[in-house]
Amino acid sequence: MAAHQWNPHLYDTRHAFVAAYGTDLITDLDPRPGERVLDAGCGTGDLTDALRATGAHVVGVDASPDMVQRARDRFPDLDLRVADLRTLHLADADFDAVFSNATLHWIPEAPAAATALAAALRPGGRLAAEFGGQGNVAAIDTAARALRAEQNLPPAAQPWYFPDIAEYSAVLAAAGLTVTGAWLFDRPTRLEGDDGLAAWVRMFGSHLIDGVPHPDAFLAHLADRLRPRLHHSGSWWADYRRLRVTAAKPAA
Ligand code: BEZ
Repeated sequence: MAAHQWNPHLYDTRHAFVAAYGTDLITDLDPRPGERVLDAGCGTGDLTDALRATGAHVVGVDASPDMVQRARDRFPDLDLRVADLRTLHLADADFDAVFSNATLHWIPEAPAAATALAAALRPGGRLAAEFGGQGNVAAIDTAARALRAEQNLPPAAQPWYFPDIAEYSAVLAAAGLTVTGAWLFDRPTRLEGDDGLAAWVRMFGSHLIDGVPHPDAFLAHLADRLRPRLHHSGSWWADYRRLRVTAAKPAA
């Protein structure tokens, strides 16, 4: 998997909704004071800090050194580490709970990530995760691919993993976890600014403009195509569909 390049400053200033939407996943995890919690895919640290505010002892990991550096600058006393979830191996594992928001859709090697997260849990520990589910951002993805084809550009890569409930439940089961809840739901997500769609594609879907000779013109054309469907009430709305899962590691 080619690593996605993150811009931590842009992520915080234009895409703060990522963390804002994650707060009710913390309610599902229900961390208790003194518990050890792993934030798998901590980004720039907002939810790691929110988890810590519950009284839990939190370790945040992220594959992007730039994002971890930004998180350390913002929250110097959090325990934040650079680690790839596919190969995660923490000497001090044995977590009571694993939390993961808006990360697992970047890891097509889902069995490897699920196995590593399961290994990080103590027997009896639990997981709460949310990420893009089947059909996530389909309008954006389909329109951008169609526009590329019309412009005789090669097909874009596919870095995203958007499974349905059955597929991901099987991944978790194969990793040794018992699924305790699973929901697939639409959550249209407001994108800030008149250029919200273009900014989103540049930040999260840069593969869709890879090799495009004039990205500004391409994105303007894409916005024209998608406006009737994704622009209303004065804003752009990305057609997010979330997969939320809770699971437990059987007690030994
Ligand atoms: C998501 O949160 O659903 C998402 C974010 C970036 C790219 C694709 C999906």
